[in-house]
Amino acid sequence: MLSVAILAAGKGTRMESSLPKVLHKISGKSLLQRVIDSCVELKPDQIFVIAGHKSNEVQESIPNDKKINVVIQEPQSGTGHAIQVLCREVKNHAGTLLILNGDVPLIRPSTLKRLLYFHDSKNADVSLVTTKKTNPHGYGRVFLKGDFIERIVEEKDCNDLERENPLINAGVYCFNWGKLSKIINTLHSNNNQKEIYLTDTISLLENSLSLEVEDNGELQGINNRIQLSECEESIQNSIKEKHMLNGVTFINKASCSVSEEAEIGKDVIIEANTHIRGNTKINSHCIIGPNSFIENSNVGLNCKISNSTVYDSQIMDYIKIGPYSHIRPQSKISSQSKIGNFVEIKNSQLGEESKVNHLSYIGDSIIGKSTNIGAGTITANFDGQKKYQTKIGKNSSIGANTVFVAPINLGESVTTGAGSVITKDSKDNSLAISRTKQVNIENWGKKKS
Ligand code: UD1
Ligand code: MG
Repeated sequence: MLSVAILAAGKGTRMESSLPKVLHKISGKSLLQRVIDSCVELKPDQIFVIAGHKSNEVQESIPNDKKINVVIQEPQSGTGHAIQVLCREVKNHAGTLLILNGDVPLIRPSTLKRLLYFHDSKNADVSLVTTKKTNPHGYGRVFLKGDFIERIVEEKDCNDLERENPLINAGVYCFNWGKLSKIINTLHSNNNQKEIYLTDTISLLENSLSLEVEDNGELQGINNRIQLSECEESIQNSIKEKHMLNGVTFINKASCSVSEEAEIGKDVIIEANTHIRGNTKINSHCIIGPNSFIENSNVGLNCKISNSTVYDSQIMDYIKIGPYSHIRPQSKISSQSKIGNFVEIKNSQLGEESKVNHLSYIGDSIIGKSTNIGAGTITANFDGQKKYQTKIGKNSSIGANTVFVAPINLGESVTTGAGSVITKDSKDNSLAISRTKQVNIENWGKKKS
């Protein structure tokens, strides 16, 4: 039987944050969620998340899964205390207990599997992942005696000589739960932090073994924002490298970010300062950026999006967007269309080969194929209480600075006069115009003087 305990009760004092440490995110996913995801791959029988500081927030962040149980540790008197609480709350201590710190988010399922295998094959009381760090500052130092771990000394309890030891405890342990529960309540907090350390169990158990792995970044613990940013960089590098090997060009890799879920086709060029977030798919031969942000959207083939923002929308093929366009959620832009400078589109559908080139707001609208929306056109979709729809048929020609007071329905091949405020529906092939006729008063300048 395999049980997992994830330690997530601490405040994370060194983060200097009102958010519990394990809820900080890297590449869009919380530290805790990342650790849970890695553990789920092991198909354990049960997972316990030990929550304490702001436990409601931590609990709410956990997906509904009947295998995941939250155990409350109150107060938070150290990692050893967290497991004392677990052993008190859960009565059956059979099998293996894998314990992970909730702040080691990059740990790979393959490393966890290796640890489980190592632990079983050596019939250990406890096995833990260790690594040699060039800068071991902040970590517990692991001292070996022959094949066994003799003890772990926390950074704050190390003397100068002990501090030199580069072998550190990664915070990932496999215990024989039966043996652990026999000694867990003998721990004390006689140390410089006045905390009950889980690491003190090691010298109380007989067969304590170290699985030393190479430090490739996955064992980085997060205690402050510098380490948070290092982990973000490390994840981002591996995501971008994967895309580059699949045929994506990054013009200035360091200034771009890509979510783990994003899919990017071949021969896509990602220009500087561009961010591809959430569940986004960019198809082949697009040029995205510079300075663009695309979230939860689908971008078709051969599109060019520069200096623009796109949320929750569908952009079909051969479309040009920007510079400085904002495509808001639930928009669908059909193939060969063009959205130009300073244009905002929200919850609207634009037919094929249509153009909204300059300074417009198109909201809650359905616009037909091959329609040209003149510069400065606005859909007035809101009466202060409700939103209304604007419909414009295909092949229409909308004059500059037209205001559509929705709800409004225009037929196909309709023309509107520049500067018109359109309040009435109009039929196919009509001209809709509403503006005062120009009056020229002659000699106006002379009269004034
Ligand atoms: C811990 C280890 C250290 C190891 C390092 C690896 C101990 C005593 N030290 O130090 O040997 O090198 O991790 O990253 O275990 N937590 C609780 N309840 C508490 C206190 C903490 O659940 O009462 C949780 C925290 O939320 C965190 C984890 O335990 O996720 C580790 O706590 P942290 O304070 O970060 O320990 P470190 O100082 O990093
Ligand atoms: Mg830590």
